[in-house]
Amino acid sequence: VPSVSTVDSVLSKACLKRLAIADAGTSQALLKSVEDLDDAHPKQAKGRRAGRSHGDILPVTHTYLQSVAQRQQMFAEYAAKTLTWRKAFSKVDESDLSEGVVSWFKDGRLNASENCIDRHLPTHAHRTALVWETDNPDHAQKITFQQLSDNVNRLANVLKAHGVKRGDRVTIYLPMMPAIVYSMLACARIGAVHSVVFAGFSDTAVRSRIEDAESKVVITADNSIRAGKIIPLKKTLDAAIKDLPQVESVLTFSRVARDVPMQSGRDVFVEDEMAAASPVCNAESMGAEDPLFLLYTSGSTGKPKGLVHTTGGYLTYTAMTLQTVFDIHKYDSDPFGCFADCGWITGHSYVVYGPLTLGVGTLLFESTPTFPTPSRYWDVVHRHEISKFYTSPTALRTLIKAGNKHVHRHKLKRLSILGSVGEPINADAWQWYKDVVGGGKAHIADTWWQTETGGIMIAPRLQTLGKAGAAMHPLPGVVPVLLDAQGAEIQGVDVSGALALKAATPGMARTVFKDHQRYVDTYFRPHKGYYITGDGARRDKDGHIWITGRVDDVINVSGHRLGTAEVENALQTHPAVAEAAVVGFPHAIKGEGIYCFVNLKDTHKSTDAEALQNELRQIVRKEIGGFASPDVIHFALTGLPKTRSGKVMRRILRKIAAGNTEDLGDTSTLSEPQVVGDLIAKRNELL
Ligand code: WT7
Repeated sequence: VPSVSTVDSVLSKACLKRLAIADAGTSQALLKSVEDLDDAHPKQAKGRRAGRSHGDILPVTHTYLQSVAQRQQMFAEYAAKTLTWRKAFSKVDESDLSEGVVSWFKDGRLNASENCIDRHLPTHAHRTALVWETDNPDHAQKITFQQLSDNVNRLANVLKAHGVKRGDRVTIYLPMMPAIVYSMLACARIGAVHSVVFAGFSDTAVRSRIEDAESKVVITADNSIRAGKIIPLKKTLDAAIKDLPQVESVLTFSRVARDVPMQSGRDVFVEDEMAAASPVCNAESMGAEDPLFLLYTSGSTGKPKGLVHTTGGYLTYTAMTLQTVFDIHKYDSDPFGCFADCGWITGHSYVVYGPLTLGVGTLLFESTPTFPTPSRYWDVVHRHEISKFYTSPTALRTLIKAGNKHVHRHKLKRLSILGSVGEPINADAWQWYKDVVGGGKAHIADTWWQTETGGIMIAPRLQTLGKAGAAMHPLPGVVPVLLDAQGAEIQGVDVSGALALKAATPGMARTVFKDHQRYVDTYFRPHKGYYITGDGARRDKDGHIWITGRVDDVINVSGHRLGTAEVENALQTHPAVAEAAVVGFPHAIKGEGIYCFVNLKDTHKSTDAEALQNELRQIVRKEIGGFASPDVIHFALTGLPKTRSGKVMRRILRKIAAGNTEDLGDTSTLSEPQVVGDLIAKRNELL
């Protein structure tokens, strides 16, 4: 095990060269940024974190350069040391990005629920595993590892009784309540593959995900409750699975009241069955590369893809990144405060699997940042003694708008690390986070990653100061590059390009469910040997990374990822719509808003605009969910800008929606250039 002091700049340069991370000859600043990072590590990390350096997290490598040079050994040692394996692995990294293959620890065997629960019981059975912050702030509940174990085992037995077998997909449509964690881990326990569908999705969206996953069993609740409002979850699910004989059982948890229609022979109140079931269910021995879950996410086409995450590498990577970015150690006593919903990857990785693998309690937040007042987050931090906090820029912007008086500094004394995720954080929000929430002292971690990567890829290291709005540094073992349009790596500093990854990390998705070709085509085909992220990025003069946003037709609305094509498809189902083009535009709170250009059929051009706009909003809510409701619906009465071959020019529409009309670029290829003037005039009326 090399010690930090053996790393000198000669080794650093040699590593850089061998890995072609950057051309050291032409890029002194970039080289220096990595050296600074490595040099700063032991001293400052020790000083700031009471003597705990990351030596105990990264077993072999202490520096970024070493982590990349010895990445396979590093991940292998971490996996062997941190997880409990039924059978040790002998294979490590068999990935080949040029073929779209990602594989880690292939011949190892383990069970995720055993890693999240059983192994903690001998020493920590009565430690809090889940801190459930219910919508009503007076009703918070704590669930110990022992209680988690009982519930997961009982539910696992109930799933078996309903015929769920290893490899079967179970759809989970639940709000943020302990049952969502029980359900995920009960599936993992018996080797079933969970597919959590965010409870904000509409019946149509849930149906297509249940169909794609071919689930026979769905887990839901009677209702959900947010900001004091009761939302009829079971009713929505009933609509989703109407005439869908594939669904044989609907296991219904009680959240609000049991007064919901139950279809006999199909729907059961699952708590009754759990009470009668045994609290012991043997965990299946799973291969490291067996699927743990599917999670649907949006891409540039209209059809969401079910990304498949596997067991060994995913658990390794979520635990390791939680340690590296948030300085979490096994059995830390403060619960981890991630406010994300389990319907998204952040909830999977940093509410459930990361913290529980490390035996650390985790927050389940059912409410909203402003209910009953905009002090809610800070009350939660105070009451549950949270020191590591993770939220989205959208939530921060909402709270900034509510005013500083809601931030009670005395309640935030414990906070040492403040994370941000889901979308670019603007400099103002970053500064507010640092100064007002963090009292100028807390460390801000703007974390960049994706559903596909399974865990955090780029984030500032604990020992560096960070810059307002920069994701800063690749995590250990992560090798990001910037590509030009031809797929060549852009060297040096002060440059921008398409962000790609050049090495497989253990937590990456392995395939798209039932469509491996789509996985290969989307992520690996554009440029051989790289994983293409779909984001653009800039490397500044110091070599630090800034994420500049999506370069494809994906938009990010309040941290919810949406394909513009999905919204277009929804709009097109309305009989008045001839064609629709949807783009994102800058939105003060949501980050990006949804701007819809809609061309009406001649027969509908004189329909009342407001009524039609309402109908169209309704259609999108019904097809996707409330969070996708359009911000602007712009009737483009003279048409959309198109090339002579008939392709809508979205580049121009994006500029019009954003109000950036000084420089529209080349419009000479448009078939009818005059429509642009009409669109600009109308946009200025609307916004
Ligand atoms: C997309 C992935 C990562 C979990 C939640 C979202 C954007 C995410 C950042 C960040 C700038 C970010 C990217 C990415 N994104 N984090 N820190 N700075 N952009 O997961 O739904 O798969 O969305 O979110 O555009 O590609 P997701």
